[in-house]
Amino acid sequence: MAYTFEKSKELFARAAKVIPQGVYGHLTPVITVPGAYPYFIKKAKGAHFWDVDGNEYIDYICAYGPMILGYAHEKVDEAFAKQAKDGTSCTIASPLMIELAERIVNLNECADWALFAKNGADTTSLAVVLARAHTRRKKIVLAKGGYHGVQPWCVPSLVGVIPEDRQHIIMVEWGDLDEFKEVVKSYKDQIAGALFTPYHHPAFGDSELPKPGFWAEMRRICDDNGIVLIIDDVRAGWRLDLKGSGHYFGFKPDIACYCKAIANGYSISAIVGTEKLRLTAAKAYTTGSYWFNSPEMAAALACIDEMERIDAPAILRERGMALTNGLKELAGAHGLQVTISGPPAIPFMSFSNEEDFMRSQVFCAECSKNGVYFHPHHNWFISAAHTEEDIKKTLDVADKAFKVVKNQFGG
Ligand SMILES: Cc1ncc(COP(=O)(O)O)c(C=O)c1O
Repeated sequence: MAYTFEKSKELFARAAKVIPQGVYGHLTPVITVPGAYPYFIKKAKGAHFWDVDGNEYIDYICAYGPMILGYAHEKVDEAFAKQAKDGTSCTIASPLMIELAERIVNLNECADWALFAKNGADTTSLAVVLARAHTRRKKIVLAKGGYHGVQPWCVPSLVGVIPEDRQHIIMVEWGDLDEFKEVVKSYKDQIAGALFTPYHHPAFGDSELPKPGFWAEMRRICDDNGIVLIIDDVRAGWRLDLKGSGHYFGFKPDIACYCKAIANGYSISAIVGTEKLRLTAAKAYTTGSYWFNSPEMAAALACIDEMERIDAPAILRERGMALTNGLKELAGAHGLQVTISGPPAIPFMSFSNEEDFMRSQVFCAECSKNGVYFHPHHNWFISAAHTEEDIKKTLDVADKAFKVVKNQFGG
């Protein structure tokens, strides 16, 4: 029997009275398929969550990236809880901060130092500040369709953004070396930093992996022109390679930003950099009320240990391959054309013969109503907690959902 969402809807009506938009930001029901998805969660465990109506889902969004080992992971939760007993936010820093920085610096080839914050945007914004301070230049090059957070220099909406916020931001197509070279030539000695995701993972669009030689050439251009090369690894970090996505794609950025998977859902982010930026990082005034919380640091250490112990990226790749190969096969059997792009650990599926995502919406709504949580126009995330059994069940649900798409659209 297809799921219903009565309690979710009741709660949403209550929320809308006291919370602008009811649920705001990327969790707003408006950007999935209104009426076909749950809005509020009751509990989560492993790769599954249960909504307030009691419906169970195999979850391929993983909290939009933070969940990598499985929800309510015992080792990570225990590390957090044990440390929390000794205080959460304190007046002075914990040695755990040093331990975590050492761990990340030892693991990550481009890292000579690390600083911690709470959210991804804390680190991408700090990266921009450091690039500008280091080079004494103003311009920052970003890719169109990239997401780096909600600060005025990068937020996708223009509400409350003034032209001055974007005055020194230059947008290029991700992966277009010729355009980047042209921009570097036009703004000679004015570009402080180039800030890109390691591969292109826009919402509402197929993901794009770097072409062979792309990152080596980017590295060369940035070196030749004194530009700080920044990698926003907030989303892909730890899912492709525990040494960072720079290592995965064979290059060394000057700064890398991490967040989501670093502590399996506890709120901590990290910015790492090379020796040449150490002094600038020391001079910049950077802090936040909760940036020194030690339980999150203990959780991050436990998460990194566990990711390393089980070789999380290998599991994600294997499960991702099983899922994406299965989906391609099923779509083909139904006479449907799908494109699955991005690394198998972070796949994006679209229907090849449409641009309006209507088939994606019907497919994902059908899956949601039958216990598989996919997003129609955002990439999905695989976790180490997804089992072979989960993938098998998912493909059974997907089979029926493809049938509905075929019946509705004919192909
Ligand atoms: C690539 C990327 N950068 C930055 C961010 C911003 O992170 P946060 O929402 O934690 O500020 C995100 C969030 O989804 C992201 O995917």
